[in-house]
Amino acid sequence: KEVVLSGIRPTGFLHLGNYFGAMRNYVRMQDEYNCYFFVADLHSLTTHPDTKELRNSVMRVIAENVACGLDPEKVALYVQSTVPEVSELYLYLNMLAYKGELEKTTTFKDKVRLQPDNVNAGLLTYPVLMAADILVHRAVKVPVGKDQEQHLEMTRNFAERFNHRYGEVFPLPQAFNYGTSLAKIMSLDGNGKMSKSENQMSTLYLADDDDLIRKKIMKAKTDSGPTEPNAEKPDYIENLFTLMGLVSSPDVLEKFNADFNNCVIRYGDMKKQLAEDMAKFIHPIREKAAAIQADKNLLDKIIRDGAEKARINTNATIKAVRDAIGVHYI
Ligand code: TYM
Repeated sequence: KEVVLSGIRPTGFLHLGNYFGAMRNYVRMQDEYNCYFFVADLHSLTTHPDTKELRNSVMRVIAENVACGLDPEKVALYVQSTVPEVSELYLYLNMLAYKGELEKTTTFKDKVRLQPDNVNAGLLTYPVLMAADILVHRAVKVPVGKDQEQHLEMTRNFAERFNHRYGEVFPLPQAFNYGTSLAKIMSLDGNGKMSKSENQMSTLYLADDDDLIRKKIMKAKTDSGPTEPNAEKPDYIENLFTLMGLVSSPDVLEKFNADFNNCVIRYGDMKKQLAEDMAKFIHPIREKAAAIQADKNLLDKIIRDGAEKARINTNATIKAVRDAIGVHYI
């Protein structure tokens, strides 16, 4: 079976962008592939989070993954920091990553703008740590959203450089989505991608209660509707259709699509329908995640088993890496 790896940063509750770009694919992939999924707690340290909050967030992400249908028996679900081989590979790869290319990374440039007083070296080498996450499992498919595409390209560059210098150790991984292209869910206000740090009323969290979900969706950006038949949809409208495709029945989606194409769409009605279907979709995930999060023994077992499974694979890779570099003395 092909090896799959992906990770999510524990920076608060997960939102629909994470679900679409990542978790939905994880759940589908777990039956077909040899899967490793992890919570990227080390990556979060670049923003100096509160220690207690970080711990809670890690537990929450584990619980939400399981609540969405990920089966810890089928996959290795682990916390990044419990697998020290990641950090060792990160060190080796840092010697093959250049300051110029790291400074040009879009996510780095964004962070410099967001936290100008904390431009630490970890932030600069974020893509190297991410490459280590992937390559330490010699993964070939990486289910992620569109925003991670550049990081995957950098991972392939680092892997190629390593293979060229030390001999073939790593396959070249590809970003993966079951659809035709990588997913990008927009913020409900139509401004950029849905994310944890943007306007909270425009981000739908898997932890939001039914009323809040309704409120957020009813506030989503729309306009006065198309003026000619079969017009192209503006991206914020396309986004609502995408969300509807996830949670509503095909008939409902079809109906609103036809209404749009015939210029008779009523966005108020569409949003009402979407709000109800979304609330129904998120409700069980929210309840299940809360129950799992309260079960400390279960979480502890998932995390321990996950680390054990992951380390069988990462140890094998690190051995091959050390042999290739020639740092094997004992
Ligand atoms: P993170 O924690 O920001 O997001 C987790 C996953 O959710 C996807 N995603 C989205 N997809 C579509 N639309 C959106 N609006 C949206 N917002 C987030 C992300 O693409 C991602 O798949 N660097 C990564 C974490 C990471 C990782 C890795 C991922 C660390 N090491 C190794 C894959 C492999 C990140 O910050 O994702």
